Amino acid sequence: MTGLSDRNFIITAALPYAYDDLHLGHVASTHLPPDILYRYLKSRGARAIQVCASDDFGTPILIAAEKKGVKPSDYVAEWNRRFREDLGRLGIVYDIFDRTSSPENVRLVQDFFRALDGNGFIFISDVDQFYCEYDDKFLPDRYVKGRCPHCGAEEQYSDACENCGRTLQPGQILDPHCSICGRAPVMRKSSHYFFKLSAFSARLKEWLSQSPRLQADAKNYVLNWIKDGLQDWDITRDIPWGVPVPLKEAGGKVFYGWFDNHLCYITAALKAAGKTGEAGVKYWNESTVYHFIGKDIVYHHYLFLPSMRMGEGHYKLPDLIPTRGHLLLQGRKISRSKHWMITVRDFLEGFPPDYLRFYLTRIVPYSQADANFDLKEFADKINNELVANIGNFAYRALVFVKNKHGGVVPRPSGPGKEEEAVTGDLVAAVSDTGRLIEEGHYDRALRAVLDFSAKCNQYFQHRAPWENPETEPTTVYYSCNLVAGLAVLLHPFLPFSSEEIWAQLGFKEPLAERGWDSAAGLTVPAGQRIGEPRPVYRKVEESDLGKVKVLLG
Ligand code: MF3
Ligand code: ZN
Repeated sequence: MTGLSDRNFIITAALPYAYDDLHLGHVASTHLPPDILYRYLKSRGARAIQVCASDDFGTPILIAAEKKGVKPSDYVAEWNRRFREDLGRLGIVYDIFDRTSSPENVRLVQDFFRALDGNGFIFISDVDQFYCEYDDKFLPDRYVKGRCPHCGAEEQYSDACENCGRTLQPGQILDPHCSICGRAPVMRKSSHYFFKLSAFSARLKEWLSQSPRLQADAKNYVLNWIKDGLQDWDITRDIPWGVPVPLKEAGGKVFYGWFDNHLCYITAALKAAGKTGEAGVKYWNESTVYHFIGKDIVYHHYLFLPSMRMGEGHYKLPDLIPTRGHLLLQGRKISRSKHWMITVRDFLEGFPPDYLRFYLTRIVPYSQADANFDLKEFADKINNELVANIGNFAYRALVFVKNKHGGVVPRPSGPGKEEEAVTGDLVAAVSDTGRLIEEGHYDRALRAVLDFSAKCNQYFQHRAPWENPETEPTTVYYSCNLVAGLAVLLHPFLPFSSEEIWAQLGFKEPLAERGWDSAAGLTVPAGQRIGEPRPVYRKVEESDLGKVKVLLG
């Protein structure tokens, strides 16, 4: 990317449902990758905003609130607060962390519906639906439980069987009962609003084939779905918790969550940019737009989202939808009901946030391939790469300043061959790392920083300042500057520990305010008084892992 500093970037992370704690899987695919990009872009002087929100509406959330005996609006507000707290502790701070139930989003959703309706993309059709005559209400999927017709598992929701993993059509479930009162529901016809998704097949196909920055693997299977024929989409529900359909005759129906949730990307971004009306539309359309997601919501982001935007007509489609695979935990699929999950909260009880950021960045590729979180490998990577490679180099260099030079960076004599080589490596690392980040390969970008750090260690080892008093000041001076370069390069990945290294180098202003390009220069002047050298990273011991292991199973 050239000329980053005169462009706007809008970066969004998929919105977590407001009924469950964030776990390591959410961070790996959805929240950490955009944060790396966002921090990088800002360090390059770009105007970037990063937004997210809680996904507040839908039946499961309504049921959870009812169970707790609290108003759904209070229930989701509490989750919104928890999400911000957890993500904040990971250094992931959004310009706005909105809620899909915010008044601004409700307004945008209703405006979108009116525009789609006006443009001929909405129609009404009857659907068969469970109805509880005792509770006097239509029962959407999650309100009906019964026996799976495929595998016989009891107490399954009427839309999907958790035991065999199959999805169910309305009416397929055996011995259905209302999850509120336990009585058998009846089938009744209900009118619903539909969105004419099928009308967009040709335009979606064209968009997919003309967007080289969308991932090829995702594109291919989306194109296959289109080829198989797109079904028009039922966008309303008969529940009291959602964005109301803005028509009198709608009789209190609300929108299905997937109609309103992604519109909050726009709502939140324009709020963060402080733009409304036409200025908002203009701002959106002049920005490069990224939506970061996990691969389980490809359908929604590559079909529903773009066709709704096309049908409404004002807001441009995303430039990139970076899509990553699932995170497995010790080789197994993460599952709340099977207690196979580690929440962000629990993990941060045991380890610093940068350890999690480091390991997840190392193992999650820019593709739909699944990654595996393995505790043993986590410890090895922290110990061999963070502690032994980066931490070791920074600490050794700074200890020399303290012990041999009274805490003041010494004056070098001109660079020798080795200094010229290693500063050349630094310049190359700055450009390689930046390019890999721009290409979405954060795992490889971090690898490039590690490779460079290994070269720094070799340089130090080779120059052996402990036995070469003549070149010692030069070695120490250059090493301090290499540490500074490393800190700038690490900052998008490891915001906490890179700041700590930076402070130990004696800088008073935060690293976050340093430009990326400054990494390549010699930024630590001779004569600078450093802070107190301390090892920034600590080894992960078997006993530390034990605290996390007890959370599983
Ligand atoms: N809450 C949804 C999920 O967890 C994701 C919503 S992303 C948005 O699967 F696009 F709809 F906003
Ligand atoms: Zn009932």
